[in-house]
Amino acid sequence: MTSTTTAAKGSESRKAQPDHLGHVIFITAAAAMGGFLFGYDSSVINGAVEGIRHKYDIGSAALAQVIAIALIGCAIGAATAGRVADRIGRIRVMQISAALFTVSAVGSAVPFALWDLALWRVLGGIAIGMASVIGPAYIAEVSPPAYRGRLGSFQQAAIVVGIAVSQLVNWGILNAAGGDQRGHLLGIEAWQLMLGVMVVPAVLYGLLSFAIPESPRFLISVGKLDKAKTVLAEVEGKGTDLDARVAEIEHAMHNEQKSTFKDLLGGRFGLLPIVWIGIGLSVFQQFVGINVAFYYSSTLWQSVGINPESSFFYSFTTSIINIVGTVIAMVLVDRIGRKPLALVGSVGMAVSLALEAWAFASKSADGTLPTGQGTVALIAAHAFVLFFALSWGVVVWVFLGEMFPNRIRAAALGVAASAQWIANWAITASFPSLADWNLSGAYIIYAVFAVLSIPFVMKFVKETKGKALEEMG
Ligand code: GLC
Repeated sequence: MTSTTTAAKGSESRKAQPDHLGHVIFITAAAAMGGFLFGYDSSVINGAVEGIRHKYDIGSAALAQVIAIALIGCAIGAATAGRVADRIGRIRVMQISAALFTVSAVGSAVPFALWDLALWRVLGGIAIGMASVIGPAYIAEVSPPAYRGRLGSFQQAAIVVGIAVSQLVNWGILNAAGGDQRGHLLGIEAWQLMLGVMVVPAVLYGLLSFAIPESPRFLISVGKLDKAKTVLAEVEGKGTDLDARVAEIEHAMHNEQKSTFKDLLGGRFGLLPIVWIGIGLSVFQQFVGINVAFYYSSTLWQSVGINPESSFFYSFTTSIINIVGTVIAMVLVDRIGRKPLALVGSVGMAVSLALEAWAFASKSADGTLPTGQGTVALIAAHAFVLFFALSWGVVVWVFLGEMFPNRIRAAALGVAASAQWIANWAITASFPSLADWNLSGAYIIYAVFAVLSIPFVMKFVKETKGKALEEMG
């Protein structure tokens, strides 16, 4: 169905130049709805935590499991999406993900038991994992090389907007329920409504996926050359020599490995070196502790003596800074390149994390910080998110979308993204105990990873700015 609409649209757009960039932006934005849901769904749980705790009368350890279990779903979704996308196409994977998001939103809004809620969250996690892989892969495949970084960064922009919107919606629902997560609204409790609201973007994502064309590289891989040409004309413009482009893509695909997990194997360390580099980028992105800032910020600020209202406010200002940094990165990623951005970000993150560690070291027995250190901690926490957002937040997703050779892209991206979800899970699950042991120590660990990311990028990561996907290898 998608291909028929595509064919019609493609022949029109060949005449209607030079609008094709606007059309590519629409296609990219539609695909990046998966990123919005990724940000929304992974952070919406924060607002619901206390409601779940009281409803089911469970302790912190069990609660942490209910939260972290969704991240395991994410790893499963990310690991499988690439393979499925190579079989049935990128668009179908978006549709499966949208359906899972929808079912998970409805299910977790009206669970009949804790295990039932956990099950719906795992399903939602699988949807997030799939969206985290298919968004960057598809966007890289439909973007003209000169704009690919900027278009690829739509995914991260959508993630950060999703995070900010989920916080705003949660806050609105909480206020409407009189400040009580178990207060009633529309016949259910406030926390249930928070989880259920996701049905709106989920359905929109599903609908939008019917309005965008299948990836030309997938079409070529299944022999649908005419359809591939139509889409290429649609996204790369009238001046494109379509036969030459198809031949170039076909040639690149035939010269490379097949996209199964087995073909990622090789090299001295089990997997191809390029796959390890993708995994390294993912792991460093998480091990600097970014999601401590997004999943635990209000708990963190309260643990150093800041009142709950201000803590909510700082969580929100952090997510606004996250959006600002992402926009800066979107402007710079195709101009100065991915590597310089990543390096600037690593240095900035290392300094801010070290400052946070220094400030938290003077936490007193009653859990408060001296005024000076309190101010430093707050400024450093915002600076950290700014540096992350203008570098690793955007750059890693852009790299993962474009750094792998065509034939292994989907599978390799799946492996790298699931490594990212596992790393996210490790940080999310360990932070509460680390913080109990030594809050400052936790930040020293994150700072060390920020420092280590510098030689990693300098030695192993190749710049991909401005290269055609067919040149990656
Ligand atoms: C990146 C990370 C994600 C994090 C987000 C914060 O997308 O992959 O884990 O929550 O940035 O902006």
